[in-house]
Amino acid sequence: MSTTAVLNATVRPITARPASATAPRFDIYAGIHKALRTLMTDTLGRLGRCDLDHEADLHDTLDRTSLMLTLLAGHIDSENQVIHAAIEARRPQGARKTSDDHTDHLQSMADLTDDIQALRQTPIAQRPLLAQALYRHVALFVAENLEHMHVEETTNNATLWSLFTDAEIAQLEGQIVARLSPEKLSAYLRWMAVSLSTAELTGFLQAMRLGAPAEAFHATVSLIHGELDAVRWGRLAMALGMNSLAVETRSQA
Ligand SMILES: [Fe+2]
Repeated sequence: MSTTAVLNATVRPITARPASATAPRFDIYAGIHKALRTLMTDTLGRLGRCDLDHEADLHDTLDRTSLMLTLLAGHIDSENQVIHAAIEARRPQGARKTSDDHTDHLQSMADLTDDIQALRQTPIAQRPLLAQALYRHVALFVAENLEHMHVEETTNNATLWSLFTDAEIAQLEGQIVARLSPEKLSAYLRWMAVSLSTAELTGFLQAMRLGAPAEAFHATVSLIHGELDAVRWGRLAMALGMNSLAVETRSQA
């Protein structure tokens, strides 16, 4: 699926509503932040239950932890280059708090990367102490990110909504998607698949169905299908008015 194809679909809000005085505003953070919350808490859980004397478990868990840092670094870069830049252009210092947070988070991520590498290279006997330290540091990092995302979804959203129309905010989201590599876009979509409600996924895919080529739509449906259990997939297929068996056949072709 091309990045451009998805861009044309995702400029529509996940929570798209007809314009009215009571309609919710375009929330540029909601969907991706749900995905990142799941990614972070799932990764923390995996670190906690990792069997340190099992090489495959250890390295798979550390690979996942590194992937979490990579996806979060990409998210920080998107927010800095697109959202914060847009806010600062219309209200200087308007994104100062969360910009400063990002600087701190990048330092924490560099430290965590060093911790991960040290644990990879440590003999089994010395692993428990390093693993416990890494687990605790990741837990604190997750806690900081949860608070940070709350500020973005409240304070920054209020700033965005006071400075930009929904159409302009949707354009910012389009810019973010356009900057992503296909691999990163797929990774974010997979975490969104397991983090959004069926109604939210339906809204996202219905918008995509209207705004993107059929090929991109079906590729995204197949990707999301691969992340859902049978019950949730059945609900989503029904909400989309799709024959779930037909889609399964298409995705296997
Ligand atoms: Fe952020």
